Amino acid sequence: MPTPADAQTGYASKLELFQRLRKPLMDHAIAWLELPPGSHGLDAGCGAGLHLEALLKAVAPGGRIVGVDLSPELLDRAREILSGGASNDAIRLQQADINNLPFEQASFDWVWSVDCAGYMPGDKDALIKDMAGLLKPYGRLALMAYSSQQLLPGYPGLEARLNATKAGQLPSWPGDAPGDHFMRLPERFGQAGLVQIKAKSFLAQFNAPLEPAIREALLELMDMRWSGARDEVSLADWNLFLRLSQSASRECILDRPGYHGFFTYTMFAAIKPS
Ligand SMILES: C[S@@+](CC[C@H](N)C(=O)[O-])C[C@H]1O[C@@H](n2cnc3c(N)ncnc32)[C@H](O)[C@@H]1O
Repeated sequence: MPTPADAQTGYASKLELFQRLRKPLMDHAIAWLELPPGSHGLDAGCGAGLHLEALLKAVAPGGRIVGVDLSPELLDRAREILSGGASNDAIRLQQADINNLPFEQASFDWVWSVDCAGYMPGDKDALIKDMAGLLKPYGRLALMAYSSQQLLPGYPGLEARLNATKAGQLPSWPGDAPGDHFMRLPERFGQAGLVQIKAKSFLAQFNAPLEPAIREALLELMDMRWSGARDEVSLADWNLFLRLSQSASRECILDRPGYHGFFTYTMFAAIKPS
C-alpha cells in the first residue's frame, strides 16, 4: 500500500514534469524581479527546490537562499537535485511551516513563494504580516501562483465547467471569501504596510507539433488540474475530458494539427518600507 512518503515522492515527480513547462516562465519572472546581487532570500514552500538554482543565479555573486518546506520527502528530492549542481553551499534547505517560520525579524532581503504562501488556507493576514516582518527595510515580498489556462481549444464550455469545480478553482480554496482569492493579494499587501505593489502575469504557451517531453508534461498538467473534478461534472463531460486528455486516445487534443494552449502565472510583489 502506498505510504504518505510515496505520495510525496510521486508529487515531486509531478512537479518536476510540470517544471518542463514553466521553467522559461519562471526564469522570466525571476528576471523581472531584479533581485539584488549578493542578496539573501527565502523560498517559502520550496517543494523539490525547482526554482532555487535560477534564484541563486539571479543573486550572484555572493547571494544566499534558504528553502523551507513542510515535506521532508520534497526537501530530500531538492537535496538530490541540488547535489548535481555547483551551487549548494549557498543554498540551505530546512523543514519548517511557513505559518511559524523559525527566523529572526529582518533576516532576508527578499521572500519568494510559488504556489504556496499566496493562497495558504488559514489566517492570510497573519501570514503576510509575518513574511513582511522577515524582510529587511526595502526588502521585497514576491508571491506567485498559477492563475489561468486554456488547454482545451474548441471546448470552452467543458473547460469552464471543469474550472468551476472545487478542484478546478485554484488559486483559491472552496469556501474562501472573494477577498481571500490570490488575485486580491495586493489589497492584503497594502494592509500589511507594504508599498510599491506591482502585479504581472507571465505566459507559458505551447504550439503543435509538441515535443514528446512537452506533450507528456501537458497531459500531466491536465491531470493535475482537473482529475479531482470527476464527481462534480456530468458523465458526458468527464468522458469527453478523458478522450481529450489521455495519451493513447485518438481524440487527444494535444495531437490536433495546430494545437495551441497556454497557462499563466501571476506575481504580486511589494517592498517593505524603511
Ligand atoms: C504546489 S507545491 C509548490 C512547490 C514549489 N514552490 C514549486 O513551485 O515547485 C506547494 C508546496 O508547499 C508546501 N507547503 C504546503 N503548506 C506548507 C506550509 N504550511 N509550510 C511550508 N510548506 C508548505 C508543500 O509541501 C509543497 O511543497
